[in-house]
Amino acid sequence: MGKDRKKKKGNGAALFEEYYSELYQERWPTLKEALLAPKEHTLLINPYGDFKEEGLESFYGYDHLYKLKEEILREEANDEEKLPVYFLDGASALAPLCLDVQTGDRVLDLCAAPGGKSLILAYALKESGSLTANDKSENRRFRLHSVLKRSLPESFFQESVRVTGFDASAWCLHEKEAYNKILLDAPCSSERHVLESPEHLKEWRIGRTKRLATLQWSMLASAWLVLETGGRLVYSTCSLSPMENDGVVKKLIKKFGESVEVLTPHFPSDLNCGEASEYGTLFLPDKGGMGPFYLSILHKKS
Ligand SMILES: C[S@@+](CC[C@H](N)C(=O)[O-])C[C@H]1O[C@@H](n2cnc3c(N)ncnc32)[C@H](O)[C@@H]1O
Repeated sequence: MGKDRKKKKGNGAALFEEYYSELYQERWPTLKEALLAPKEHTLLINPYGDFKEEGLESFYGYDHLYKLKEEILREEANDEEKLPVYFLDGASALAPLCLDVQTGDRVLDLCAAPGGKSLILAYALKESGSLTANDKSENRRFRLHSVLKRSLPESFFQESVRVTGFDASAWCLHEKEAYNKILLDAPCSSERHVLESPEHLKEWRIGRTKRLATLQWSMLASAWLVLETGGRLVYSTCSLSPMENDGVVKKLIKKFGESVEVLTPHFPSDLNCGEASEYGTLFLPDKGGMGPFYLSILHKKS
């Protein structure tokens, strides 16, 4: 390897710092500190399991979700027949909740593994309608299948839940207007993980963000064609980069124009840490401890 190439390969941390300090300006040092702090989790209790929520504080009044005292609960969660609980980031739980799943809905979760958001969608269906949980990665899909099978009633899982392994960006080649609720929780830069890993940080380049934004766009465009007219789609990522968030939604509006209506989320009044962006809401951990997480709620008009 040439000397210049070697030098360039090693400076990802500096490029990362330059890009995000430019984006977040004077907020960046505090935001970076919050990104490196231990992650806060929220507890999702299986309504079909035996776990009792006694003494736990509700997560802003949402069904089955609680603020967490993790150490105590992980021990109690071992070796149960049904998975009693699932741990996830509070802001990320808001994406499936914003889909507003009702009994009887036909729901598609396009990038579903390991499955926390699929569980929230499945619980909201209350053993009615259907859920298709998809993920292209075989390893991750194995975990997704296990999480859903071990959390849901056997008959509902067998009859109404489908775990698939298709490429989300090509789904529209096989089905059109087939679901009335779609969650696209897209693969993303996941800067929090990059910051935590010296290996990944060293290799960081803006090109990765650009490639992911292109992939996200192809997935969102496909998902839009698969969504029924009148249906709702939630697009989400755990990225800090506007290119992967509002930038992707902007392309959808440009391509599909009038049919895309961006809905305003209605969060509980005490959940006030989300920051409105052009087309969605961004949760950043320096304000409220959750995230990073971006979500945009889209309605398909006729
Ligand atoms: C952010 S993660 C999803 C997390 C998941 N929604 C949850 O709450 O547990 C993104 C997922 O997209 C999957 N993925 C990546 N490329 C894909 C593609 N082209 N089609 C479908 N899934 C894909 C990855 O395997 C990964 O599991």
